[in-house]
Amino acid sequence: MNPLPSAAPILLIGLMFILAGCAPKNTAPTFDASSVPTKASRRVTLKEVEPIFSTKCAACHNPMGMDEGVAVGGLVLVHGSAAANLVNAKSTESKLLRVHPGDLAKSYIYHKLNGTFAAVGGTGLKMPLGGTLPPEEISLINDWILSGAPLE
Ligand code: HEC
Repeated sequence: MNPLPSAAPILLIGLMFILAGCAPKNTAPTFDASSVPTKASRRVTLKEVEPIFSTKCAACHNPMGMDEGVAVGGLVLVHGSAAANLVNAKSTESKLLRVHPGDLAKSYIYHKLNGTFAAVGGTGLKMPLGGTLPPEEISLINDWILSGAPLE
């Protein structure tokens, strides 16, 4: 008996589940630049945001990546190297800088954390992949960028 006719519906259902699971993350909310904060609520230093990068991002964003031996997104966020790889550094998957000091709308990391990356010409999925950052940590990163992304 040809196994294909019985396997096809199962494959199709599986595909639908995969597509349904990806759809909400891939659908870019329309990006409204006027909704992006332009002023820091207070000055935030690198010391305050670096622990977020090393505990929530570096498990994937390290020189070994997620097992492939390549940093995912070409981005290393381990302690001590986050600032150099973010501030004024070109994004690999968009035309923006990863962190444009003082300007959230031009900072690709902002769009990766807020899910608006597709609206600014980016690709991939919302960060942190497979998890979420609490709003207060997103605000802290925003305020650091709006503080001019100080290197200390
Ligand atoms: C589970 C693994 C994983 C975690 C955790 C993770 N990332 Fe990513 N990140 C990826 C992968 C894979 C890519 C490339 C594909 C994509 O963009 O979806 C990526 C891409 C990126 C990019 C795009 C890089 C570029 O130059 O264009 C940024 C920015 C980014 N991640 C920031 C973060 C930040 C900030 C955190 C922590 C809050 C984080 N990621 C946590 C896996 C991860």
